[in-house]
Amino acid sequence: MSTPRKLFIKTYGCQMNVYDSERMAEALGGSGYTEVGSPEEADMILLNTCHIREKAAEKVYSELGRYKDLKAAKPDLKIGVAGCVAQAEGEEIIRRQPMVDLVVGPQSYHRLPEMEAKAGTEKVVDTDFPEEDKFERLKARPKAKRGPTAFLTVQEGCDKFCAFCVVPYTRGAEVSRPVARVLTEARDLVERGVREITLLGQNVNAYHGEGPDGRDWSLAGLIRELAEIEGLERIRFTTSHPNDMSDDLIAAHGEVGKLMPYLHLPVQSGSDRILKRMNRSHDRDSYLRLIDRIRAARPDILISGDFIVGFPEETDADFRDTMRLIEEVRYGQAFSFKYSTRPGTPAAEREQVAEEVKSARLQELQALITRQQRAVQDAMVGQTVGVLIERAGRMPGQMVGKSDHLHAVHLTADLAPGDLVRVRITESGPNSLGGVLARG
Ligand code: 5AD
Ligand code: SF4
Repeated sequence: MSTPRKLFIKTYGCQMNVYDSERMAEALGGSGYTEVGSPEEADMILLNTCHIREKAAEKVYSELGRYKDLKAAKPDLKIGVAGCVAQAEGEEIIRRQPMVDLVVGPQSYHRLPEMEAKAGTEKVVDTDFPEEDKFERLKARPKAKRGPTAFLTVQEGCDKFCAFCVVPYTRGAEVSRPVARVLTEARDLVERGVREITLLGQNVNAYHGEGPDGRDWSLAGLIRELAEIEGLERIRFTTSHPNDMSDDLIAAHGEVGKLMPYLHLPVQSGSDRILKRMNRSHDRDSYLRLIDRIRAARPDILISGDFIVGFPEETDADFRDTMRLIEEVRYGQAFSFKYSTRPGTPAAEREQVAEEVKSARLQELQALITRQQRAVQDAMVGQTVGVLIERAGRMPGQMVGKSDHLHAVHLTADLAPGDLVRVRITESGPNSLGGVLARG
């Protein structure tokens, strides 16, 4: 038996990191660790980091600085850095913050228990891209009960090399997990109480995992198979590239009832000139036509996206093109960012847009998105939607869940997490919808 110890994990960045943190906690469970909610109680602190924008890495270093006193008071405390900053910076992290004991890149998580055993007596760094399937080696045991929603990584890495992005360097080349493994993991999640699964991948719609018939299956094929699992009520996937939005996936949105009407389809810019410089391999018009086809298959689908403002050489006219594209698409949700130079990516070398210009564009774009988001949300009032209850709300008797379109919905009813109900929407607030149980 291993000695009982406490683990604190802080997760930055995307949903894939959230999934990875769960897997790492489970793997370290075998070494006697249970998770705790604060760094003060912990015997080991693990930061699962994000490298997508400059500020993300800075945040990690300042967070590490905060642990100095903890480490001084408890010299046995182990501090580890995982994730994409770990991959990008490697040993540099230990040079900058010598109290860090362990640095582990996203493709080496299955080696974490061995690394943890060595940490404390020596510094351990692993940023390899090994051949073996880390998730196979990171299986959960014992099988704990889970909440109603879960992430499941089916694809990782990216071969697209957008000129601004570090992902192909930090997460590596595109790899899909075999269909059978995904199905086994999904069935296991459902047995443990999960009713909604979000399939994750940096380019999830490029999924091409080996099927039981020995051929490569598409994401649509995988979704249709997952939809057969009894007890699994909802399927989502994120995040997608416009060029991989195949006909069969579009058709699945119209045909598979369990596939939810929400699609995150980043375009990044509405200017053809900038899209070309971004190496996006699609243009404005092909994106707009694609949205039309998706809406024809599933008219109520909520479209969400990502935008970068102030990409090198972006002019005011380019920015206006982006604003016009947003007007045309009518996004239900969107994430927008000022371009941030990432060392080693092609765009880092180019002429940069002034910071004030980036800030002004971001503000204008976000104001438009907020208006659209609110309009889409307000239009739900009077409609009846499916809601998966996730937890109790702040008011007595109130429960909170997510609608089919991923809006937060609150209602007062005698319900428990995991209940899937029909709700008539009666009000739309700044961040959520309110409703009542629909009769019949
Ligand atoms: N600067 C700003 N935003 C970026 N993103 C990716 N790389 C950068 C960068 N260098 C944004 C993109 C992507 C999202 C995950 O982060 O919009 O879709
Ligand atoms: Fe951040 Fe991208 Fe890494 Fe996710 S994959 S943690 S968003 S850099």
